[in-house]
Amino acid sequence: MFQEIMRRSTYKQLFIGVVFVGAAVLIYSMVPSNSKPKGRISKVKIEPYVSETRKQLGIPTNNNLVKDEHTETVEKTLKAMQDKLAKLQGLQNKIDDNIAAGKQIINNITRDVAPAGADHKTKAVGATGPSDLANVGKIVSPRVGVLKNNFERIELAVVACGPRFEQASVMLKSNVLFTQSPLNIHIFTDEHRDAFISMFSSWPRNIQQKFNYTIYNITFPNGTSDEWKQLFRPCACQRLFIPNILKDKELLLYMDTDTVTLKSLDGLWRYFKTFNSSHLAALTLEDEVEDISWYKENAKFPYYGKLAVNTGVMMMNLTRMREWDWVSHIVGIHKQWKDKIMWGDQDLINILFHFNPEKVLIIPCNWNFKRDHCKHGSNCKRAEDYGAAIIHGNGHTFINDDQPSFKAVFNTFNQYKFGQDYLEYILAPIQHQLNTLFSTHKSQCAKDPHLFHQGLNRELNRLKMEEAAKH
Ligand SMILES: *[C@@H]1O[C@H](CO)[C@@H](O)[C@H](O)[C@H]1NC(C)=O
Ligand SMILES: *[C@@H]1O[C@H](CO)[C@@H](O)[C@H](O)[C@H]1NC(C)=O
Ligand SMILES: *[C@@H]1O[C@H](CO)[C@@H](O)[C@H](O)[C@H]1NC(C)=O
Ligand SMILES: *[C@@H]1O[C@H](CO)[C@@H](O)[C@H](O)[C@H]1NC(C)=O
Ligand SMILES: *[C@@H]1O[C@H](CO)[C@@H](O)[C@H](O)[C@H]1NC(C)=O
Ligand SMILES: *[C@@H]1O[C@H](CO)[C@@H](O)[C@H](O)[C@H]1NC(C)=O
Repeated sequence: MFQEIMRRSTYKQLFIGVVFVGAAVLIYSMVPSNSKPKGRISKVKIEPYVSETRKQLGIPTNNNLVKDEHTETVEKTLKAMQDKLAKLQGLQNKIDDNIAAGKQIINNITRDVAPAGADHKTKAVGATGPSDLANVGKIVSPRVGVLKNNFERIELAVVACGPRFEQASVMLKSNVLFTQSPLNIHIFTDEHRDAFISMFSSWPRNIQQKFNYTIYNITFPNGTSDEWKQLFRPCACQRLFIPNILKDKELLLYMDTDTVTLKSLDGLWRYFKTFNSSHLAALTLEDEVEDISWYKENAKFPYYGKLAVNTGVMMMNLTRMREWDWVSHIVGIHKQWKDKIMWGDQDLINILFHFNPEKVLIIPCNWNFKRDHCKHGSNCKRAEDYGAAIIHGNGHTFINDDQPSFKAVFNTFNQYKFGQDYLEYILAPIQHQLNTLFSTHKSQCAKDPHLFHQGLNRELNRLKMEEAAKH
């Protein structure tokens, strides 16, 4: 209901906001600059100005404390000035209030309104004819309800096999919690379909209204599934074939199961607007600094740029990938380099972008914040300034004790149940654990707790305010 009202009155509010601020600035600029009060004016004392005023009025000065025939004139003049100042004070208060009100309206609009480009249309592409990559075993979620707003739909994909169900469930929970746009979730799994279905149906109705989901079986091209499945951890390379599976989708955000999102995905999705006509995908760098680069030290194969890319969070223009025949390129690279690579699909993507660097857009590190960003000292400037937006527990960081700050955030989200208070059940436990780690100097990442909670603090308070506005 609240969002519907926001949507309808968006332009009206924007207009009112601009008018408020405009009017305030206009009035203020009409006040002669030499009479503009500096700072706050409280009731002005007259006494200290008596002697100065006598000088100004051309009245001979005398000892201030002695009354003479000019005293009345001087006092009248000063009283009049005092009244003028009081009026100016009132005017300034009004101006301040108007500016604040206008700013709030504009803030609300920039926060609530569609990520730029709600005019964007999704084109259906090449879904005709039989295909060996058909959506076999597809399950579509029940229609729970219609979410009314003008946000762009975010298509989110995750591949979850083997022991990855728990992490995937936390990853999805965090995304559904924070993300403002409606989500369309694509889950690729063989053994966990029932677990996902019962998890989603256990979530409260108002949460279920925020997303739809589809579950797919793991599918590989032309009967080579055994080879691909062996390539990396179970079925992680499924994502390489998604462009040929989700044939009617144009844009997709792929996320590894070992991620937890601490912010609305809308900010990330907006990077699609900055794709140029060469970009197929957007990724973060594997490292921000050269002297800790794993690839530089160890890779026996070519990789992107000087620092390589990490593929835990990957924005894909599926249409463009299909047009370029991405899957054939990947299959070719695999044939040539399969004996040299270490990290499966991430290495294949690095090799591909080594030879085609213009096809990848590099996005800021706080959207894929890993232990490498803090375990040798903080090197992700964006996370220092705004806090991590997505944390990535690669190398089992959500499970082991390497950098326990990551585990603390993961565990808290794992334990959180929809409906519980955000500040009490997410922010407070995370801050408590981070403070403990900080004071015991357990690890390098623990020395910068604000990397983990400053963005979170802002987002959870936003959620709380939105909730309050709905009731
Ligand atoms: C801005 O949003 C907040 C929180 O949703 C709400 O309390 C406030 O009334 C809104 N202000 C305006 C001017 O719309
Ligand atoms: C999808 O996977 C499930 C579980 O492995 C299996 O039972 C089912 O037959 C598969 N569906 C198709 C259409 O392959
Ligand atoms: C879910 O799907 C239904 C039916 O297609 C649609 O009306 C609804 O808006 C979708 N919800 C979200 C959150 O995308
Ligand atoms: C699958 O097989 C067909 C014909 O056998 C071939 O044309 C096609 O390129 C193959 N697809 C992939 C992704 O290898
Ligand atoms: C995705 O690629 C298609 C085909 O090249 C293009 O028309 C579309 O504008 C691209 N979308 C974005 C967000 O880059
Ligand atoms: C797109 O940006 C990349 C850098 O990310 C650049 O190499 C490429 O030339 C750009 N393409 C166009 C068409 O501007």
